[in-house]
Amino acid sequence: MNKMTVRDIDVVGKRVLVRVDFNVPIDAKTGKITDDSRIRAALPTINYLIERHARIILLSHFGRPKGKVVEDMRLAPAAKRLSEILHEPVATVGDCIGPKAEKAVAALKDGDVLLLENLRFHPEEESGDENFAKALASLGDVYVNDAFGTAHRAHASISGIAHYLPAVAGFLLEKEINTLGALLENPDHPFTALFGGAKVSDKVAMLKNIMGKVDTLLIGGGMAATFLKAKSYSVGASAVEADIINIAGDLIKDTAKNNVNILLPVDVLVADKIDGSVKGQIVTVDKIPSCQIIVDIGPKTVDAFEKELKKSKTVFWNGTIGIAEVPQFAKATRTLAKLLSKLKARTIVGGGSTAETIAELGLADKITFVSTGGGASLEFLGGEQLPGVLALRDRI
Ligand code: 3PG
Repeated sequence: MNKMTVRDIDVVGKRVLVRVDFNVPIDAKTGKITDDSRIRAALPTINYLIERHARIILLSHFGRPKGKVVEDMRLAPAAKRLSEILHEPVATVGDCIGPKAEKAVAALKDGDVLLLENLRFHPEEESGDENFAKALASLGDVYVNDAFGTAHRAHASISGIAHYLPAVAGFLLEKEINTLGALLENPDHPFTALFGGAKVSDKVAMLKNIMGKVDTLLIGGGMAATFLKAKSYSVGASAVEADIINIAGDLIKDTAKNNVNILLPVDVLVADKIDGSVKGQIVTVDKIPSCQIIVDIGPKTVDAFEKELKKSKTVFWNGTIGIAEVPQFAKATRTLAKLLSKLKARTIVGGGSTAETIAELGLADKITFVSTGGGASLEFLGGEQLPGVLALRDRI
């Protein structure tokens, strides 16, 4: 990465504003964090700053409160979790700018950690308002962006603030960019990409960008329905992105031009509704009943995908393969996740629900790298310049 990092600036005794992405999944009933990977991923930067006696002021969003204070979207649970992991107090305060925040920052001693309140309680965060960015910047001497998961948003705390302070990358942001960048620049071959998730539209740019780099594309998840439709299969009542069918058809043609082996499902699990009470049935893709929905890939497809994955030296996986929230429709996702964890290959997993599946199965330490970015990793691999990276100081 051609940007300066926290290693390149003096942080000793400074007030260091660190943008983190503590947008972690929470159990709606218990209010407990169900996957703290994003908090743990920020530890190298936070610990580095603690060791250098910086005064650490963490900035984050949580959820999409749409510019209003939403009680359930306060950052207190994240502060509590971080404090448990660090074995030291993490202070919180009811706002991220203004007198309360200023007072909390002024009370910090060297090595202390403060997590300001949810940035998105202010509409100015998402609109990228300059005055809001200035107010945030006034709380620190240096700015560190370690929020890879939000680096694709041109928000005040991501790109705006970098105009007013020396702005560098944290260790997580650096690792994400270097690891995902290497996937595009020098993958070991054979390189297989496994894609699932609901939508093709989210992944078109990425599919185009990696077309010349991968050897094999494995397509599952809800998005498989649109690809199957492009190949003139009837997909029953499965959701299809009508405006993307032609693009999916073109992508299939591109695989032939680029000598990429593409595997679509040959059999699928179908059900009449997406509900934990139904079992569903396995059918070949030419026999999908008109009133049924594809909810997972079938065993023959799992076998075919496994064969390709076992031959691979690099694997990138993004998107769950069936409907991950319903246990009986998540079998292929779980089987392939477990296989990935056993491969002797460079295995990279995109963020979002794919990363949550890996965490839930306790496989994170058996995967080469699990990205903390869902949308951000898709945009980066789609060849986009991320505002959060662009805003940082260039390495000279
Ligand atoms: C994410 O969860 O992908 C990031 O935290 C970004 O969240 P957003 O999509 O609400 O901007």
